Formats: sequence, structure tokens, C-alpha cells
Amino acid sequence: MILDITQYGNPVLRAVSAPVQLPNEDLKTLADNMLETMYEAEGIGLAAPQVGLNIRMVVIDIPEDEDEEEPSTIIVNGEEKSLRSIMPLVFVNPELEAYGKEYLFTEGCLSVRNIRANVSRPESVRAKLTMLDGSVMELDCGGLLARCLQHECDHLDGFLFVDRVSSAAKITLSKKLKKLATYR
Ligand code: NI
Repeated sequence: MILDITQYGNPVLRAVSAPVQLPNEDLKTLADNMLETMYEAEGIGLAAPQVGLNIRMVVIDIPEDEDEEEPSTIIVNGEEKSLRSIMPLVFVNPELEAYGKEYLFTEGCLSVRNIRANVSRPESVRAKLTMLDGSVMELDCGGLLARCLQHECDHLDGFLFVDRVSSAAKITLSKKLKKLATYR
């Protein structure tokens, strides 16, 4: 089922989301719906607040061709993995530690229509991701996946990529954002 994607200006995008209790059978259906919604909107990641739910849950699916510009490097539980082998990723209650040098990359967001902007973030991430079956994936990654994880997990704390642009870019974006917030 395709869900409505929450748009900029909606307070649900600004709240700190609550941890998820497992097991929860309903979350499997929610994950399927979130993935379907994300594919239809041609996104590579979607966080629960973007479908109106303030819970700490995220889905990610990065297609191979999207990964070419900043190829993801992936180590799962100490073992090198291909991107395809771990997609789609569905997880709750992520713990993230970003590290390495920061670099600028153009981001967009399904909740902030028609705006793309350069955001500076660390190049790598160590993460503990809890799968819906309760197992924990220990992930060390770089490239687009590291970028996407930081962007999506920001949603769980009420942050949007437009909060993280340079102050000059903030001024440029402010008019557009005001408009978005009015016509949501
Ligand atoms: Ni987003």
C-alpha cells in the first residue's frame, strides 16, 4: 500500500521519534508499505516520520546505478559485503557513529520537494542496526550508504538535510522553504 509522504512544515518531521519495541508483527506490513511508497517516489531511503509515524524505523534501498557516484563500502559483522546483498535494509532503533573527513554531497528528500542542496557530512559510519527479527547488524560503511544512513537517522531526531547546509545556502533556501511550509 502506498502511504502519504509527510511534507516539510508538518510537525511530525520535527519531533524526536520513540524507540520501537520488538517483536511487533505490524512492523512487517509497515516496512513493506514504506518500501513500496519509497520505490514509487523513486527515493533511496525513507524514515517512519516521513509517513507520519514518530517511531525509530527506517527503510533503505540503494540501486546499483545510484551508487556509482559515491560507491558504498560495506563491512557487516567484520565481513566485506556487496551493496545488493544487504538491500533492502529495514531497521529500527539505529545507533550511529559517523567518522572520517567531511565532504559535500548533493542531497534531496522526499519530504522536501524540489529542493536539492550540498550537505557536509563525515564519509564513514559505524552503525548498530536492529532488524525486525531482533537480530543486530553491525555495519561499517562509506560512500552513498554512509550518507544515506546519516540522512535517514537524522529524520528520527527531527532534523532535515536543509538544517545542515551552509549558512549562505540557508539564506538562499529560506524563501523556497517558507513557500513549501505554507502549501503542504
Ligand atoms: Ni529525507
